[in-house]
Parts: sequence; C-alpha cells; structure tokens
Amino acid sequence: SKTRHFKWQVEYLYWSPDGVENVVMGINGRFPGPTIRAKVGDTVSVGLTNKLQTEGVVIHWHGIRQFGTPWADGTASISQCVINPGENSVYRFKVDKAGTFFYHGHYGMQRSAGLYGSLIVDVAEGKKEPFHYDGEFSLLLSDWWHKDVHQQEVDLTSKPFRWIGEPQTLLINGRGQYNCSLAARSGNSSLSTPCTLKGSEQYAPQILHVRPNKTYRLRVASTTALASLNLAIGNHSMIVVEADGNYLQPFSTTDMDIYSGETYSVLFTTNQDPSKNYWISASVRGREPKTPQVLTILNYSPTSASKLPPSPPPVSPRWDDYDHSKSFTNKVLALMGSPKPPSNYHRRISLLNTQNTINGYTRWAINNVSLSLPTSPYLGSIKFGLNNAFDHKNPPDNFSSLYEITKPPVNPNSTYGNGVYMLDFNTTIDVILQNANALKANVSEIHPWHLHGHDFWVLGYGEGKFSTKDEAKFNLKNPPLRNTAVIFPYGWTALRFVANNPGAWAFHCHIEPHLHMGMGVVFAEGVHHVGRIPNEALACGMTGKMLMNNNRN
Ligand code: C2O
Ligand code: CU
Repeated sequence: SKTRHFKWQVEYLYWSPDGVENVVMGINGRFPGPTIRAKVGDTVSVGLTNKLQTEGVVIHWHGIRQFGTPWADGTASISQCVINPGENSVYRFKVDKAGTFFYHGHYGMQRSAGLYGSLIVDVAEGKKEPFHYDGEFSLLLSDWWHKDVHQQEVDLTSKPFRWIGEPQTLLINGRGQYNCSLAARSGNSSLSTPCTLKGSEQYAPQILHVRPNKTYRLRVASTTALASLNLAIGNHSMIVVEADGNYLQPFSTTDMDIYSGETYSVLFTTNQDPSKNYWISASVRGREPKTPQVLTILNYSPTSASKLPPSPPPVSPRWDDYDHSKSFTNKVLALMGSPKPPSNYHRRISLLNTQNTINGYTRWAINNVSLSLPTSPYLGSIKFGLNNAFDHKNPPDNFSSLYEITKPPVNPNSTYGNGVYMLDFNTTIDVILQNANALKANVSEIHPWHLHGHDFWVLGYGEGKFSTKDEAKFNLKNPPLRNTAVIFPYGWTALRFVANNPGAWAFHCHIEPHLHMGMGVVFAEGVHHVGRIPNEALACGMTGKMLMNNNRN
C-alpha cells in the first residue's frame, strides 16, 4: 500500500454545465473535481488550498469511515473548523474498503454549488472482486440550478419561505443539456431543438465507448441536491452488484432508482446489435418532474459515436410509482457471506421527520428539534469537555406515540437545537426513521438518510407508523450494509449499526436544502479514544480560544 498525494485548489469558475454559462465551484480548474483512485490499504493525502475569496470550505469523503481519523471527515462544525480563504490544509485518511464513493463540500450549500467528484477504491493488489468485467465507467449524477447557490440559500432561510423549485438540468459527470435535446431527432420529442454539438463543449455528453460482447462495470453515484433518479440503459439489462462500497447478492433489473448519497455498481453485457448505439438515461422520481431526463450514448465500436440511437430514450416509470421504487429497494440484499448484524440492540432511537415552523421560518425537525450547527466543532468540544459549546440537554430518543403521521402537524412549532446523541462505545444502536406528513396536507416526501463514520444494516422498510410488532419482520439474515437509506412517504425504515468508531458523526437527510433547513442529528461515541486532533481542526470557536489560552501559559 502507498500514499496517494493530491494537490487541489478550490475556486469559482465560469462553466457551462448545461449550455448556459454560470459560476460553479470547481477544483484545479475543472468541474466536477478530479477523480481520486486508490487501492484498499492506501492512504489518501489531499493538500487543499482555499482559493475562494470570501468563504470557508471543507470536503467530506462520502462513504469513507475515517477509522482513527475522525477529524478528516470534512464536516463543518462537526469534525473540523472550515478552511478559511487563502489557507491550506491537508486531509489524510486510509481507505479500508473497496467500492464506489464520492466526495463533496459539506459547508453551507457548497455541494449544490458543484463542489464534488468521484472517489474509487480498488481491491488490494492480488485480490479479486467477486464478479468479472472487461472495462468500467463512472457516472456521477447531479442536478443543477441556474439561480446561484447563495441566492438559493437566502430563499430557503427567508421569511416567508421561498422554495428553490426543481432543478433546471440533470447532469451526468457534470454534463447536461438545457437548451437542446440529444433525442430531438429520434422519437417524437418535436417540441425540443436538436443539439448541434462538436463534442468538445463543456456540456457535450460523455459518450461511453464499448466493444461488442463484453461485460462492463458502471459505477453510479448520486450527489444530487434534491432529485431522486431512475437510471436505465436502452435495450440492456443491468446486474446490480455493489451498493455504498458493499457487495450485494447480484440481481437483474431494467432500470434502477438511485437517491442522493447512494452509490451502486452494475454490470451490463454488450450483447445487442453492434451496428447501433443506445441511450443511457436518468430521470426524476418522487417529485413531479419539471426537469427533462439527462441522456448520454452507449457507443458500440466500430459504429460511429455521432450516430444517434434509432429508438427513443428509455421511458422511466411514473414519478409517483412508489411500488416500483419499493420493489427495487427490497431487492437490495447483502452478498452471501457478508457480515451479519448483531441479533440484539442496546438502544433504540426513533426519529420522527417533520416539516415545521419556527417564528415563521420553515424548517425540518427531528423529534421536534431542528438542527442548527454550533460555531465550535463538536469533535474538539466533546474531547476537551467544553460544555457550553452546544446544547447540554440530550435530544429525545423518541416522539409521542399519539403523533398522527398521516396529517400535517397539529402544532407545527418546533425549536432549534444542537444537542448530541451520546452513544455508548461499542454498543449496538437501532434507528427507526419515521416519515410523516409535511406542512401541506397529503404531502410526504422521500428522504435519503446518510450516516457518517459507519455503515449500517438496513433491517427493513414499512408503511405507516412503526410499532414494536414490526420487529418480527426485520431481516437479520441478509440485510444490506449501506451508508445511505431512504424513507418512503408515510413509511418507516429500520437501521442497525455498531457505535465502534470514536468521533462525532453527522446523520442527516442528504437532500441539501433539507439539511440546510435542519434535517439532521449528531451522534458521538468513544471521543476520549480519539487521538491527537490537528490544530487546524480546532482553531475556531471555543476550541480556538482554548488553543490560544494553552499557548499563553
Ligand atoms: Cu454526502 Cu453529510 O454527506
Ligand atoms: Cu429530506
């Protein structure tokens, strides 16, 4: 194993992700940022310079557990202080598991601004994946707004609230088309203008060049700010083999759902007519789509890449066909021989997800507490016992059993909070995520929840309000290990994990505006086992004052 060094400059760039010039947050003059590729056991070292003139920055390595390096998790106010304009900082961490991951900004709404890229971990030298393939591609999926992210942020925190609306464009590897359609000439999309592309444009699709009768691995990751997506390859079925860096019991599908924060690997075989090309498409699910599907082309050699597929792009399932989504989700099971969950839990935390108001502001709340992050990062505050750095009252483990999840909240008022769920080190924690009706009648949204620092087993999904008799239906035999799991409208999702990673960890909805509006909690465990936290991670707020006082004595 070796150390892989990267040198990055984070800066604003003029860019045209969809044919409309805009400002993106890029790295080393590129959008999306460069791909990190390493092998299991390697150390990744990213030296980062913040070239943004007026704002701090942090980068989170989504899906990397950061065993022994909780200060490198890249979460503002949780694991570290932000890297200020002009400053340098180094992220150093080990990658201990093969799989498909990504990285993104984790301060304010910098992920929505375009700060993201792929992170791929290959098996160690001499080791093999439990499946075979001849070549691979990465598809990093995202969504894009023409309104700049600072204005979006003001919209979300205004009184009265202004919703940011649906994205203008979906992007594959940072590329989409707003003013034209690749498919305008095929099928009957007569309303849209065909694209006239040379291929060198920033918004030209990245074409996937394949040879006939081979098997390819597609590494798919979604870092969307809002959209849940459905991915399909015209005329080709896919075999799903990996999710969030864990192997799955392979299953075949013609289209797959992917929620923000999730990653998958799928295999497909190029067994179709090689004189044609085929569409790859991603389209919106779970919200009434106002955003066109994004396309790219699967190009069979020696057919010309500029030859458009003769058949229309894949038709995605109806946006509100939740049964379709649930049946896909229920097929996601661990590969035989994967680690099994402990059969009992020590503590159960039930988290009710509601939309609320606080003094006229629209917020999301968990057990009636809307997360508002403190100025001193939790990791240092907890380790050094700075008791006034965050709320000392523990957030609630439960919510009223009388709460009616099918109705808008009777009393929508909630409170801001930043208390921590202190978990006993090495204990088994069950989390029941309970969805409910939003402020508007008959609305309940999808929320993909992401846990930092751990993978969890997804023990089950259910409809309505969770009750203890649902426990009997938990899958303890082959539940998938993941770091992101969705809750469906008016449903619940049950997770189990072992609190074995000393540190302070975010657990939140991966929809960027929802997190920004308070939809998250913080877990901490074994913080006294954490080694020496680098000063850069502490040099703000109360931990910063502590450092200054120590230096004076
Ligand atoms: Cu990819 Cu805390 O998120
Ligand atoms: Cu959400």
